Amino acid sequence: MSRIIAITNQKGGVGKTTTAINLAASLASLERKVLLIDLDPQGNATMGSGLDKAELLYSTCDVMLDQVALTDTIISGLPCAYDLAPTNADLTAAEVELTTLTDRECRLRNAIQNIRDQYDYILIDTPPSLNMLTLNALVAAEAVIVPMQCEYFALEGLSALMTTIEGVRSTLNPSLKIDGLLRTMFDGRNNLANDVSAQLDEHFGRLVYRAYIPRNVRLAEAPSYGLPVMHYDKGSRGARAYLALAQEVLAQEFHRPERIPPTAPEKSFPVEPSLEETIEPDASPKIANDGVLVFQLKQNKK
Ligand SMILES: Nc1ncnc2c1ncn2[C@@H]1O[C@H](COP(=O)(O)OP(=O)(O)OP(=O)(O)O)[C@@H](O)[C@H]1O
Ligand SMILES: [Mg+2]
Repeated sequence: MSRIIAITNQKGGVGKTTTAINLAASLASLERKVLLIDLDPQGNATMGSGLDKAELLYSTCDVMLDQVALTDTIISGLPCAYDLAPTNADLTAAEVELTTLTDRECRLRNAIQNIRDQYDYILIDTPPSLNMLTLNALVAAEAVIVPMQCEYFALEGLSALMTTIEGVRSTLNPSLKIDGLLRTMFDGRNNLANDVSAQLDEHFGRLVYRAYIPRNVRLAEAPSYGLPVMHYDKGSRGARAYLALAQEVLAQEFHRPERIPPTAPEKSFPVEPSLEETIEPDASPKIANDGVLVFQLKQNKK
């Protein structure tokens, strides 16, 4: 049975797609059969895997609207050595349409069921928002990997993400876990990065991957060749870091501690007033006017 992992952080540009592509390629190089599902209308994982998003016959947009089976979208035999369910900007329209459809939160989970047995790992790249697409990924997944840059505002976003994950756990997907927080674009010469990294270790402990991804120009260059970094420059620090991450992810296959997030830290992490609200246990997600995923929130009486 495959392990389904969503790569999620509603903050933009933190390395979600870079992680999805390079973790997929690294797991494939360790002889695991991997499918990468691109669930971000930007289609960056599609392009970075060597496929032109303008040339797609079918995409994950068609899957979300129940027009084709997931298997019909999957492209095999790419140089990246994993299978890809690609996407393009059509998925933006699908996201809007989804809000009016039944079973809208479970579309991806249902679509994955038929192909699940064919893979060891199914990774899902998600958009930089907590919208219906991200919700579908969180409902379909067993685990979440959260790439994050070690900076002040990254911690703020983390609180919101934890709240959303807790909301999904208490409603649509009780078995959802955070597999790990991944430090990306890490620069050890930067004091703030070191401070934030230390805070993460202190508060989240084993939830933080030991592997971290350094800032490395090869990682930024590789997508323009449509290649994961290990096929572009195998000896680069970026390639070695993602291989180390893949090994850590594989180790979790054999020893998987309860990786449930503790509550978000109170003092050192800035929390917006709205995050002091809690999620009702039986609340079902709703889409707010601006398209952002919200739950039926109940004010904490203080
Ligand atoms: N470790 C790294 N070193 C150097 N550049 C990196 C690294 N990780 C990612 N980048 C670059 O940073 C940019 C953002 O990365 P990426 O696209 O993976 O983030 P993202 O979280 O998927 O963004 P979005 O939220 O828009 O989907 C890209 O140009 C990418 O090539
Ligand atoms: Mg991305």
